[in-house]
Amino acid sequence: MRMYDVIETKRNGGELSDEQIKFFVDGYVSGQIPDYQASALCMAIYFRGMSARETATLTMDMVASGDVVDLSPIPGIKVDKHSTGGVGDKTSLVVAPIVASLGVKTAKMSGRGLGHTGGTLDKLESIPGLSTSVERDRFVRIVSEVGVAIIGQTGNLVPADKKLYALRDVTATVDSLPLIASSIMSKKIAAGSDRILLDVKCGSGAFMKTVDDAIELARSMVEIGEHVGRTTVAMITDMGRPLGNCIGNALEVAEAAATLQGRGPKDLTDICVELAGNMLFLAGKSQMDDCRRLAREQISNGEGFAKLKEMVAAQGGDASLLDDAFDSLVQPRVAREVRAQRSGWLYAMDTERCGIASVALGAGRARKEDAIDYSAGIVLAKKSGDAVAEGDLLATLYAADEALCDEGERILLSALDIRAEEPAAIPLFHARVTRDGVERLDA
Ligand code: URA
Repeated sequence: MRMYDVIETKRNGGELSDEQIKFFVDGYVSGQIPDYQASALCMAIYFRGMSARETATLTMDMVASGDVVDLSPIPGIKVDKHSTGGVGDKTSLVVAPIVASLGVKTAKMSGRGLGHTGGTLDKLESIPGLSTSVERDRFVRIVSEVGVAIIGQTGNLVPADKKLYALRDVTATVDSLPLIASSIMSKKIAAGSDRILLDVKCGSGAFMKTVDDAIELARSMVEIGEHVGRTTVAMITDMGRPLGNCIGNALEVAEAAATLQGRGPKDLTDICVELAGNMLFLAGKSQMDDCRRLAREQISNGEGFAKLKEMVAAQGGDASLLDDAFDSLVQPRVAREVRAQRSGWLYAMDTERCGIASVALGAGRARKEDAIDYSAGIVLAKKSGDAVAEGDLLATLYAADEALCDEGERILLSALDIRAEEPAAIPLFHARVTRDGVERLDA
């Protein structure tokens, strides 16, 4: 078989055979197929797409490129949750402890910040002492005893994705539906959980900008999950504005802790209840309505917060800092208030630019080896749909020095569209996708 023919088949809009896909994945991981041929194929896939069979085959060949985690020593149904990435998305830190506090085990492997989006590992590491590089046996022990652990990817999990993702990142082929679906699902399947909840973000801060694209991605991932016997549900949720009010690592941990203490912003609380409810449903706890009620109860009775502290302590972190995390965890050198230059309505937010502003303040990395300033970030005082009077506080920026604040302020202001007219309300939930079909929630 020649890689040239594989590329040509896809370039001409043909369907690749299972053998051709395996040839590509194996050859690329072993180094026999060079980057230039792999990138040509990614670009052909970007333009021509893939059938459901091709996407499922690609996913499973990627899974087979490395190790698969065996979670069978942990008793009970293990449910995983994955977000396709957004700005201010700290839901894992709220949702995983809620479901664990109700006996549903969550063995979660998370990632670092990518581009303008934040990563759960970076957020957790803003807690002094906490380690996210936990070896396999200890991970299994913490999940068995505490019910939840969130760690970085261990071992040789899906090396094909590591290589392909890095290639896609520099060849303008990240936002291809079959390539995203196979990248995410290969990691979820290799991570070993029995059931999978996907939070597919859509809007200006997400990879998928429209609801229709997000639904198509969700359908593809649900189909792959079900194909390999992992019951999979996807929620399509809004990322047309940042989630909650805080963007930045320690700030987001503080906001997650406050949410579990019943003091969180409404959008974040509602989305966490819905996601936790879906995870409980997937674990077979009860009917959907009852699962939502149970999730809300774990916030009001404090058990979700107690579970977060237990997890943080088990991973070596100082859990006492979470009681009053905005004061004890967030210690910026400089704070800057950004005020409205005119009156009207905050009509829209370019959420991706809000994420870029936070990265510019020091909360993310410009290069892989850059260090993060855990206290850097943004606390939004206004979000899309809010009325604004000239001089009102729009946001407070946190950084290590004034020059970083200047840059963050410039970018953030360019992301905020203040107009005289009031915008239409944007729903938080757009759809729920299961093997039975698509249920629209925003109609
Ligand atoms: N997240 C992933 O893990 N992979 C993608 O391709 C996009 C988002």
